[in-house]
Amino acid sequence: MNRTDQCTAVIGLQWGDEGKGKLVDLLAAEHDLVVRYNGGANAGHSVVVGGERFALHLVPSGILSPATRTVIGNGVVVDPARLLDEIEKLEARGVKTEGRIAISDRAHVVLDYHKSEDGLREELLKAGQAGKRVGAGTSQEIGTTRRGIGPCYADKVTRATGVRMGDLLRPDALRRKVELACRMKHALFEGLASSAHVEWEPFEPDAIIETALGHGDKLRHRITDTTYLLHDELNAGRRLLFEGANATLLDVDHGTYPYVTSSNSSVLGAGPGSGVPGHRLDRVIGVMKAYSTRVGGGPMPTELHDETGNQIRERGHEYGTTTGRPRRVGWLDLVALRYACMVNGVSEVAIMLLDVLAGFDDLKVCTAYIVDGRETDRFPPDAADLEHARPVYETLSGFGEEITGVTSMGELPAGAAAYVDRIERHLGVPVRVVSVGPDRAQTIRLSETGCAS
Ligand code: GDP
Ligand code: IMO
Ligand code: MG
Repeated sequence: MNRTDQCTAVIGLQWGDEGKGKLVDLLAAEHDLVVRYNGGANAGHSVVVGGERFALHLVPSGILSPATRTVIGNGVVVDPARLLDEIEKLEARGVKTEGRIAISDRAHVVLDYHKSEDGLREELLKAGQAGKRVGAGTSQEIGTTRRGIGPCYADKVTRATGVRMGDLLRPDALRRKVELACRMKHALFEGLASSAHVEWEPFEPDAIIETALGHGDKLRHRITDTTYLLHDELNAGRRLLFEGANATLLDVDHGTYPYVTSSNSSVLGAGPGSGVPGHRLDRVIGVMKAYSTRVGGGPMPTELHDETGNQIRERGHEYGTTTGRPRRVGWLDLVALRYACMVNGVSEVAIMLLDVLAGFDDLKVCTAYIVDGRETDRFPPDAADLEHARPVYETLSGFGEEITGVTSMGELPAGAAAYVDRIERHLGVPVRVVSVGPDRAQTIRLSETGCAS
């Protein structure tokens, strides 16, 4: 790493779960602060330290590096109950959090009605459009995590009903907003529930307010103006690591819309979600796994529905950190990855979970799509267009040997090294990390020149 880099971002290049948590944990010791700027408890970041596994959802993955502080920026949507639970569990396992988690007073709060709305909307989409019960296969369900993410961001941009972390310390403002939200949402929920043919329980504003104030009390000492905090730290020469949650192909503007999350989960969200302008970023590390996975609905051109897919799923333990859902699995999609590198201005790549691909005779990588009978190397991010894309594959030799104990590029079997080299050449960005297992120690870090040199 170049010691003059002050701001670095770690960004998922696919549909999430690329191993961002592991990489952020690895880099955290080289930074003073780790900053989350988007998403909420939809994220699930698994970090393994000395054989112990930690699952982080709202707390930035830098928390496991004792000298590093963390910031939950204004662009995050915070579920205070889940955050408190996460902090409590970390403390119980010996992770000190006092003075190490600052929460933006501008970050929006996920309340119970957001989670209910998320669920009701999904039920309605599952049932078919606008109350029409339609047959299987026509479901428009996004497959959200039902953590209230979309409805909370919707309230944020709607404005009058958006509750921010600072409001948890302002009882009058909180009451005004929650009472208004409950009035507005009751009518909406009634309509959603009757169209989806499901039951729902009306909300008691008093109960929501009381619970939220209780959470505010417990988090009071952590809630602050993180925009000034971050700029003060920058002025003092401190080093910041921005941790992107979710991933580029789930970005609300640049992902496979509408099968996306509700924030800018590419690097483009880092500025608005933290108050640090994007041009301060010196380095963008794109994180990818050695194959493709996706959770929830939406197109995935290289998806495998066969035994190979099942084998990759089992070898990679591809079950969601947040919801436990089996992840959809497919071959590596270099068309999507090159697009993601472009959108993020990626300066280097980390390839994770390469060990999972050991034992396959052949490995396929998608280098182009056929769309409407024509070959293209462009990624059509709208789901309706991507749905029709058929992958064009290049087949590479696999590698038989397990590589979980490999510590340098020189020790990698020829097939694995050639696979990494093929990715690097296609993306035109140097590979600086190759990960061969979940533990910190199972990581190969490459020199500044990358592996193709
Ligand atoms: P994130 O959301 O991007 O942080 O990724 P997740 O934590 O949801 O999913 C990645 C999973 O892969 C976690 O269970 C990690 O412990 C695991 N993992 C990370 N890197 C590697 C690796 O190189 N090899 C293997 N086998 N597992 C890994
Ligand atoms: P990390 O940070 C994988 C997916 C959901 C769903 C869609 C919308 O662990 O990589 P939402 O609840 O955000 O409204 O769901 O986005 N999704 C993720 N998939 N990893 C994630 O985060 C995700 N965050 C959201 O499965 O398809
Ligand atoms: Mg995850």
